[in-house]
Amino acid sequence: MQFSKQIAFITGAGAGIGRATALAFAGQGAKVAVSDINETTGQETVEQIKQAGSNAFFVRCDVADPAQIEAAINKTVEVFGRLDVAVNNAGIGGKFGKLLDQSKHDFDQMMAINVGSVFYGMQYQIRQMLGQENPGGRIVNVSSIAGVRGMPMGAPYSAAKHAVIGLTKTAALEYVRQGIRVNAVCPVYTHSAMVDDLIQAAPGMEDRMRRMIPMGRFGQPDEIAQAILWLCADDNAFTTGQALQLDGGMTAG
Ligand SMILES: NC(=O)c1ccc[n+]([C@@H]2O[C@H](COP(=O)([O-])OP(=O)(O)OC[C@H]3O[C@@H](n4cnc5c(N)ncnc54)[C@H](O)[C@@H]3O)[C@@H](O)[C@H]2O)c1
Repeated sequence: MQFSKQIAFITGAGAGIGRATALAFAGQGAKVAVSDINETTGQETVEQIKQAGSNAFFVRCDVADPAQIEAAINKTVEVFGRLDVAVNNAGIGGKFGKLLDQSKHDFDQMMAINVGSVFYGMQYQIRQMLGQENPGGRIVNVSSIAGVRGMPMGAPYSAAKHAVIGLTKTAALEYVRQGIRVNAVCPVYTHSAMVDDLIQAAPGMEDRMRRMIPMGRFGQPDEIAQAILWLCADDNAFTTGQALQLDGGMTAG
């Protein structure tokens, strides 16, 4: 029970990597604030955690709206008393298309959801972590392999995920002396609704995607969740400012 008595706040926890992460923290004893824009799937995650004998509640939050992020953090502290861990995971894949086919709306929406969520999320999370009794905390931001490489047909997404790494490293440096560790994970294709959408966008895409990964398979949400857990663990106290690539060997070559 590595996270016993700790409080974790997770965005986009109604599906995919976010849900797996919520279940993983709860399985290690954390009380989990399950946040998502989708109340139905978020409540399902809460039910799964409760059925496994752990503690969780749902708080609806559209991460494109800073006021909703602030309210969700406040609610977490009201319900559970403090904030130890935050995982800024919610995100969208955006439009599949070349740079010239991406509109201002496509770009602005991507920045609001995939970057604003991390920028404003960390502002409210770090303010809370510094102000509470026994200050400190750990934050993991979910970037992507598209945050360390270009991604043809996904310029806004790749730009957003690069920005997440810049925010992660900067926040890590700014608050390192105040007991806050900030890291990012950079998964390659991982089984989820987001990847299903991508596969459906182009025939033959799935095979091409698989061939890019030396392990010859996509990641599983729980494999990403376990890495997030490790980054937040108290016995991993020397790791901050990292962007951990979870890619089946892709970037080793
Ligand atoms: N699946 C992959 O291959 C992959 C690879 C690299 C990075 N990622 C990143 O992992 C994160 C999770 O992706 P996933 O694959 O689990 O996707 P998913 O689509 O399965 O889940 C995303 C969750 O975020 C929620 N969400 C979407 N917009 C939101 C908003 N505005 N406010 C709050 N919640 C919102 C959705 O309701 C959903 O529950 C994303 O940041 C994604 O970019 C995914």
